[in-house]
Amino acid sequence: PSVAVIIPAAGSGQRFGATTNKLFALLDGQPLWLHSVRRLRQNPMVGSIVMAVSDQDRVHFENDHAADLRTYEVQLVRGGTERSDSVQSALGYLADAKERLVAVHDAARPLIRQRDLDAVFTAANQTGAAILTVPVSGTVRRDLGERTETVDRRHLHIALTPQVFEAGLLRSAYAKHNGRPATDDAELVERCGHPVTLVCGGTDNLKITYPEDLIVAEAILRSQLAQDA
Ligand code: CTP
Ligand code: MG
Repeated sequence: PSVAVIIPAAGSGQRFGATTNKLFALLDGQPLWLHSVRRLRQNPMVGSIVMAVSDQDRVHFENDHAADLRTYEVQLVRGGTERSDSVQSALGYLADAKERLVAVHDAARPLIRQRDLDAVFTAANQTGAAILTVPVSGTVRRDLGERTETVDRRHLHIALTPQVFEAGLLRSAYAKHNGRPATDDAELVERCGHPVTLVCGGTDNLKITYPEDLIVAEAILRSQLAQDA
């Protein structure tokens, strides 16, 4: 194995609007976070898996999913207020990990496919930093105040996860972070002057954000299972 995985799972799912963390919502009878964990564990490149959870959710993970955490060899760590705090906490746990690469993958992206994992791991192995993206599909307009204009979308991509980096690179990016807001881990790495490679992934790698995303996810999962059959 050459990739250690960090799974940020310590959010609260505000936009999903459930009474508990959205990651406990069921997709095909299993919680969202467990889909993400199982798909990562299935990949032969993956070694350590560390999942950041909130204090509030920890009891549920430990009481109701101890067997799953053991089976898939998932270590829990304490998450933080921001997603980047959760990643930083997991990175601390991985201080002595022997894997060359660290991948960060949202627990809320349960539909990640093996071919996308393979592609982004391979690219990161070559360049030191690679993230999965999809091309922007809609027409984008920029508001310039007195007028608006269409933006050429040929060069625009949406950042997904996994985002994969040489371990030392991600560590120094977080060491220099100092709380300045960043939208993702790639932005932090970039601030250290290291370019980030974009790997075009599947549009099926949906992040569950709103309740209706779960309905779409059920349909994507069925189509993935049919394709693999
Ligand atoms: N996350 C985390 N720690 C935080 C915030 C988010 O580990 N302090 C995780 C979430 O659990 C999720 C991933 O980061 O797996 C992506 O975040 P998002 O989709 O925004 O989830 P939430 O923050 O839980 O949702 P919301 O923003 O709607 O509250
Ligand atoms: Mg959030």
